[in-house]
Parts: sequence; C-alpha cells; structure tokens
Amino acid sequence: MALGVLESNKQISIHCYDNWRATKVETQKAHEKSNGALNIEAGQDTLPIVKRYLEPFSAVPIHFHKGNIINARWPEQQQIGLYIDDAAKKAHTFRHMLHTFGPHWVPGETILVLMDYWYFQKKDDASFRFQHDWITQRPEHFSYVEERIEGGSTAILKYTQVYDFGKPKNWIRRLLG
Ligand SMILES: C[S@@+](CC[C@H](N)C(=O)[O-])C[C@H]1O[C@@H](n2cnc3c(N)ncnc32)[C@H](O)[C@@H]1O
Repeated sequence: MALGVLESNKQISIHCYDNWRATKVETQKAHEKSNGALNIEAGQDTLPIVKRYLEPFSAVPIHFHKGNIINARWPEQQQIGLYIDDAAKKAHTFRHMLHTFGPHWVPGETILVLMDYWYFQKKDDASFRFQHDWITQRPEHFSYVEERIEGGSTAILKYTQVYDFGKPKNWIRRLLG
C-alpha cells in the first residue's frame, strides 16, 4: 500500500489498526518466514519493528492505531478508497468495522479486501460465517472483484451502492468525546 501511495504521488493517508503484540504462533511464523533473521518474543510490542520496515516510506503519511480494534475510530472526514481487513473474523468486531468505516466507503469506488471472508470453511465454528453471510445477504451493495484469491480465505469486493450502516454501539460515548 505504501509503495502504491508513493508511486501515485498523491497525498493519501494510510491508517493501520492492530494490537502489535506478538503471539506465540506469530513468533514462530516470523522466525520461519524470515529464515531465522527475525526473532521476536511472545508478548513483544511489534510496532517498532513494523515502523522500522516502513522507514523507506517515510514520505507516506502512515498512522498507527495501537490497541483493540473494537475501539477503532476513523479520525478523518476523508473517504476510504481501500479497506483491508485481516482481523475482524467474528460478528462483534466486524459489526464495529461496518459501523465505523462503512459510512466512509464510496459507492462504486471503494474496494474491500476481506482476508477472512472464506475462513469459516477451515473451521468447524459457525460464528466465523458472519462476515461472509452479512455481505452475501446484501448483493445490491457489494459485488465480487475476485471471489477468492488462490483458494485461500481472501475475497475482494467492491462497495457498489449506498448502505445505511447505522451508528456504532458506543455512539453516545463518542459524541461526548
Ligand atoms: C493474521 S494477522 C495479520 C497479518 C497481516 N495481514 C500480514 O499479512 O502480515 C492478524 C492481526 O490482527 C491482529 N488482531 C486480531 N484481533 C485483533 C483485535 N481485536 N484488536 C487488534 N488487533 C487484532 C493481530 O494482532 C494480528 O496482527
């Protein structure tokens, strides 16, 4: 994304939301995928590492929002052109994403990359179906750009028609600041 923004020569901001707290599985993944070059400990704050990797893109305004995504807020009036989600697997978090970011999506323009869209097929747990079912129940608002990437969990969609996402659950608290 940062490379794309850099090459576009446009003032586009990127907002990233994550806990940046390494789990045991992630420490193993990091070790394996880097061929032993990246060794992190379970519980370690990984945001400084992410920032280091992104140093070549210092010209791109990248904003880091560290914490539970259930508290995520969209801080700008700006519209969202590209929404990538690799965390909101279940109803509770995905609903929050929809209420928080959905009103800033642009009909006919915004692309959604939902990396857990087909995840439920790998798990024997119906609660992982929420994301997929919510989208497919609204075919007039979303259409596939790529239904499934390389047999994995990712789907790419376009937001096609205005949808009333309603207010986030904690909207009164938000209003009061
Ligand atoms: C599958 S990983 C993302 C990997 C990333 N897309 C990549 O390709 O390198 C999922 C990420 O979501 C974060 N995450 C999951 N649930 C979260 C939550 N409730 N709040 C904040 N971050 C969360 C985890 O910390 C983890 O970094």
